[in-house]
Amino acid sequence: LAPQDMAGLRVMVTLGPTREAWDGVRFWSNPSSGLMGAALAVCAWLRGAEVAAVCGPGVTAFLPRGVRRLDVTGAREMHEAARSLWPDMDMGMFTAAVADFSPDPPECGCGRKFKKSEAPEGFSLKFSPNPDILQSLAAVCRPGQKVLGFAAETTPDMDALLPLARAKLARKKADLLAANRVNAPDSGFGAPTNSMAVADAHGREEIWPSQSKADVAWELCSWLLRI
Ligand code: PMT
Repeated sequence: LAPQDMAGLRVMVTLGPTREAWDGVRFWSNPSSGLMGAALAVCAWLRGAEVAAVCGPGVTAFLPRGVRRLDVTGAREMHEAARSLWPDMDMGMFTAAVADFSPDPPECGCGRKFKKSEAPEGFSLKFSPNPDILQSLAAVCRPGQKVLGFAAETTPDMDALLPLARAKLARKKADLLAANRVNAPDSGFGAPTNSMAVADAHGREEIWPSQSKADVAWELCSWLLRI
């Protein structure tokens, strides 16, 4: 039986990709499956927490009925959903691969398909920045709220991951930061396993070789309870 060591805690998880519309039929996104976030949501729920999962599009990962699911599409919509939940939460687990930028719609705007024939010579796309959901919510933490951030990195090896985890932990003001390689076959987007460098705000850090995302989720929940 799972220990009920998260009973009484309210946990919010963001998961999956965001999809940033350009015209009526095209968008900018990434291959996140939502598996890492679903593993955390299920783990926290099994350990007794009340869990809300803010899911990006295409997240089909198994979520039990006991987890409250909110479906969103774009980064701004995910930000709004997370922002309205956050004041009532004890923990935020930010696994979503949120698009940092959205393409600016073409002049034709209005949600219709932009035609190739409309593209001028030297046609290029412009992008505008999206809000950083984790960073904006970590900045308004009340005492006792804990923030788990992730970092998706392309590094030559695991050794290069730890300094990036430490840097992102500090920059985003998270309590715990788990960095994973997204350019290795047994880790990152869509993989059932993850290899991670994990660092917390008290100076503790560990490197975890590849293990199932369920096991990663279990270890991260335990770590969050300790800090
Ligand atoms: O979903 P899976 O297929 O299981 O894959 C899991 C994963 C690779 C998506 C996951 O383990 C992971 O790394 N998630 C973070 C992806 C990411 O966007 O990393 P980042 O380094 O760009 O962002 C750092 C942190 O800020 C993340 O916690 C992210 O959720 C958050 N962020 C980033 C940008 C933004 N606009 N808002 C945010 O909240």
